[in-house]
Amino acid sequence: MLTLGIETSCDETGAALVTGGKIISSAVSSSVKLHEKYGGVVPEIASRFHIEFINQVVKKALAKARLSERRGAAWELKKVKLIAVTEKPGLPGSLIAGVSYARALSYALGIPLIAVDHIFAHLYANFLDQMSGKIDFPFLGIVISGGHTNIFLAKDIEELAVIGKTRDDAIGEAFDKVAKILKIGYPGGPRIERYAKMFTGDKPIDFPRAYLGKDSFDFSLSGIKTAVLYHARDKKIDEGERARISWSFQEAVFDVVVEKIERAVKKFSIKTVLLGGGVICNMTLREKLKRSAERADYRVLCPQPSLCLDNAAMVAGLGEALYKRRK
Ligand code: KG4
Ligand code: ZN
Repeated sequence: MLTLGIETSCDETGAALVTGGKIISSAVSSSVKLHEKYGGVVPEIASRFHIEFINQVVKKALAKARLSERRGAAWELKKVKLIAVTEKPGLPGSLIAGVSYARALSYALGIPLIAVDHIFAHLYANFLDQMSGKIDFPFLGIVISGGHTNIFLAKDIEELAVIGKTRDDAIGEAFDKVAKILKIGYPGGPRIERYAKMFTGDKPIDFPRAYLGKDSFDFSLSGIKTAVLYHARDKKIDEGERARISWSFQEAVFDVVVEKIERAVKKFSIKTVLLGGGVICNMTLREKLKRSAERADYRVLCPQPSLCLDNAAMVAGLGEALYKRRK
């Protein structure tokens, strides 16, 4: 069932075509450059960008589908049988832009529209293109992005119970704020990762790790964020110090993530862990998870980096699956 996905929950305008869980094409246009000088997403700028570019992004997804089709069959809007759109959570203005566009298009084409939860879609990215083979339920799902930090126990693609979440900042948000303190620009995650790789290993900083008690699956990032702020205050921060802070910050945050996953796997006797969200692009985190999976005997699945970041293929994929099962 050819499904058009629309994603506009934050600063990426996405459109994608998916059928039978296979990605035909995916296009993303980002307003990230416009937010850079503010050190974070400005909601009003993001929503205006979606309104301006959504139509072009949909056209781009259709054009890409034409290119990827070997026999040259025309991928036209009239072939689309379902539209899936991110309904929540996200920036209200940005969501309204995408949902309004999707509603108008579904009305004009006379085809159904299905609403998709953005966080569940991040996890669903693991099911696309059957990259991961068969995925068994129940699984533990962890979404770590700029807006969310959640651990779910999933009995089914529709039945996800939250067992832990952040009590303050999302992990990606903390990366972005630390990058702002280090004056290395936005988005912070990839830049901190790059600096961390430059660390010589000399005198790492022991930033606080917020485990919040041994039974808790919640996260808190405010303590480490303040610790970085105090550490950097009144100091001349050169490239070496940026690398030292970046490495130490990353280690402290990821140690907590890995520890919580291992505890949850044990407590709920889980064999499969699915990850999603922008922070999962981080190679150090992926390596740590791989080692943890070997140690604690579970299977860990991460989407390819372009499917970790906000995209519409995950929205189309989940929308198609939900629509088929609900008839
Ligand atoms: O999933 P996403 O595209 O948007 C949200 O739904 O929030 O995630 C964006 C977040 C940003 O905070 C960005 O700094 C972070 O993901 N991020 C990373 C990396 N790449 C992106 N964080 C750590 N390491 C990375 N390599
Ligand atoms: Zn996201």
